Amino acid sequence: MCGIVGVINGSKVVDDLMGGLELLEYRGYDSAGLAIVKDKHVYARKTEGALANLKKELAINPIEGRVGIAHTRWATHGEPTVVNAHPHSSQKVTVVHNGIIENYEMLREDLEYEGYEFVSDTDSEVVPHLISLFMDSGALSPEAAAMSAVKMLDGAYALGILFEGEEEFFCAARKGSPLAIGYGDEAMYVASDAMALAPMTDRVSYLADGDFAVLSQGNVEIYDVDEHLVQREVRKSSIKANAADKGHYAHFMLKEIHEQPDILLDIVETNLGAQKIAKEKTVDFAEISSLRIIACGTSFYAGHVAKYWFERYANLNVEIDIASEFRYRNAPLPENGAALFISQSGETADTFAALEYAKSKGQKILSLVNVPESTIARASDYVVLTEAGSEIGVASTKAFTAQLAALAMLVIEAGKARGVLSAADERELTGALKLMPAKAQEILKQTDVYQDIAQSLKETHSALFIGRGASYPLALEGALKLKEISYIHAEGIGAGELKHGPIALIDKDTPVIAVAPPGELAEKTLSNIKEVQARGGPIILISDAKTIAKADFETLASVEVPECHDFIAPFLYVLPLQLLSYYAALARDCNIDKPRNLAKSVTVE
Ligand code: G6P
Repeated sequence: MCGIVGVINGSKVVDDLMGGLELLEYRGYDSAGLAIVKDKHVYARKTEGALANLKKELAINPIEGRVGIAHTRWATHGEPTVVNAHPHSSQKVTVVHNGIIENYEMLREDLEYEGYEFVSDTDSEVVPHLISLFMDSGALSPEAAAMSAVKMLDGAYALGILFEGEEEFFCAARKGSPLAIGYGDEAMYVASDAMALAPMTDRVSYLADGDFAVLSQGNVEIYDVDEHLVQREVRKSSIKANAADKGHYAHFMLKEIHEQPDILLDIVETNLGAQKIAKEKTVDFAEISSLRIIACGTSFYAGHVAKYWFERYANLNVEIDIASEFRYRNAPLPENGAALFISQSGETADTFAALEYAKSKGQKILSLVNVPESTIARASDYVVLTEAGSEIGVASTKAFTAQLAALAMLVIEAGKARGVLSAADERELTGALKLMPAKAQEILKQTDVYQDIAQSLKETHSALFIGRGASYPLALEGALKLKEISYIHAEGIGAGELKHGPIALIDKDTPVIAVAPPGELAEKTLSNIKEVQARGGPIILISDAKTIAKADFETLASVEVPECHDFIAPFLYVLPLQLLSYYAALARDCNIDKPRNLAKSVTVE
C-alpha cells in the first residue's frame, strides 16, 4: 500500500508532486510527506492524516525545487504519526517507500551497530541508512550505492530516492510493488500507478521486478536485476487526466454507483455485438478440467457469483478461494486446470502471489482486471478487461458489476464451448443481459426509499444480510459495504445457514436485510425470513413487487427491484445494497470515499 511519486523537471516540482499524490490518496491517507532538493540540500515536509494537511503545511512553510519525491501512507510498521511519515532520511539519502521490508529488524540492528541513528518505528527507514552505508564504505557513486543496497532488501518495495547534494537526477527501484515511469518533455516522473501520471504525461513504461532506474531531466536509464542496461516498452496510456473528477456528486462512491447503468450498457452492447471477449483473450473452456477462481474483497464476491453461473450454465467444476488463504497452503492443482484471478486494481499483493503459485503449478492463467497495465494483467496468459473506468471510491461498486458483466460473458462462452448452452439458451441469457442496464437505472431512482431505510439503520450496532444461491455472495457483499463505510457491524449469511447459529443474534435491534429475488429458491428464503420474524427481528426485504405484495410477514421496509431473469438478478439486487450502505454512512457522517483504516489498492500482504 502507500503511494509514491517522483518528479524531475528542472524548475518547480511541488505542484506535480501534490497533483500525483492526490490521485494516489486512494492507496492510503494516514499521513503524507514530500522532499525536494533545493540548492543541493534536501528539504522535507510531513504531516499526519489526509493530504489536505500537507497542503496547509506547504502554504505555511513552502518549499520548491527542480527534483522531488512524495508519499501518501497506509501504515503497516509504526503508527500514523509525523515521525513515521515518509520521506525517511539519513544524512545523505532520502527515501519514499511502498511495500514491506521483511528483513528490516536484522538490517536495523546491523546499521545501529555501525552508528546509524534511527528515529521512526518504520521498516522503511532502513533504506536510506543502508544506502548511506554503501556510500560511506567505498568509492561508489550514489546511484551505484543505492543499486547495491536495494539488493539486500527482502520483501516488497517501490522506492523513490533523493541524494543530498544532487539535483540533476533521482533514483527509483521496484520489487513486488508496482512503479510506472512517465516521460514528459524535459521532465521525468515515477508513480505507483499510471493514473497519477495522467495529468503530466500519457507516455509510460513499467519497471519490471528487480529494475533500478536513474532519472534525469528528459532521460531515464533502467538497469535490470543483473545490472544490465535495458529498455522497457514505452506505451501510450489510455487513462484520462480527468478520471478523478466527482462531477456534481457529493462523493466518488455515489458517482460510481450512478455510472453503473451506462457502464453496463456499454459492456453488454460492445461484447454481445462484436464478440469482444474473443477466443484468443480467454482459455479454451472446452479443454479445461476445472476452474479455480481467486480474489480478495469485493472481487472475491464477484467470483463467488460466477461460481454459481459456471456450474449452472457451463457444467464446469469451479473452486473459489480467498487469495490470502490460497497462497500459503500448497493446494494441489489439477492437470489441465485454469485459474481465474479477479482484481479491480490488478495490484493486490495476495492475488498476485496466488497467481504466481498457480502459474508455477502449470495452470493456465486468466485474469479479469480493471487496469490494463497492471501487474496481474502483465503476468497473465489471458486478460479480460472489466472496462469500468477508474474507480476512486475506496468501497468498490461499479467495478463489481462490471466484473459480473465480464464474467457473464465468459460464462456464456464457456457454456457454448462445453456444449451446455444451446443457441436458444444463449439468446435467452444475452436477451436478459440487454434488458439489465435499463432496469438498473430504475433501481437507482428510488433515492427516498434508501434514505428512509438508512435513517433506521443509523443507530444500529449490528445487521445481518441473508440470501441463497447467487444472492448469498450478494449478502456477503452487502455486509462488507455496510462495514466498510458506515462502521456498522454486519454479517452476510447463507439464508439456510441462519438456523445453525446466527439466528441466536436476532433481536428487535438487529435488522435483517433479505436479498430475495423470485425464482426457485425464493420460497425457501421467505421461510427463513419468517423464522427471523418469529424471533422479533426487523426485516428489510429486497424483492420484486409481486413477492413484496404477497409477503405474509411484516417488514420494517422493502425495496422493489423490477422483475427480471434469474441470470441478471445479481447485477440488480446489489444496487440497493450499495445505496443503503452509502446513505447509512452519510447519515452517520462517515468519511465515505476514504473510510478509516482502509485503502483501495492493497499491495502488501
Ligand atoms: C481492498 C479494497 C476492496 C477491494 C479489495 C480487492 O480491500 O478496499 O474494495 O475489493 O482490496 O482489491 P482488487 O483491486 O484486487 O479488486
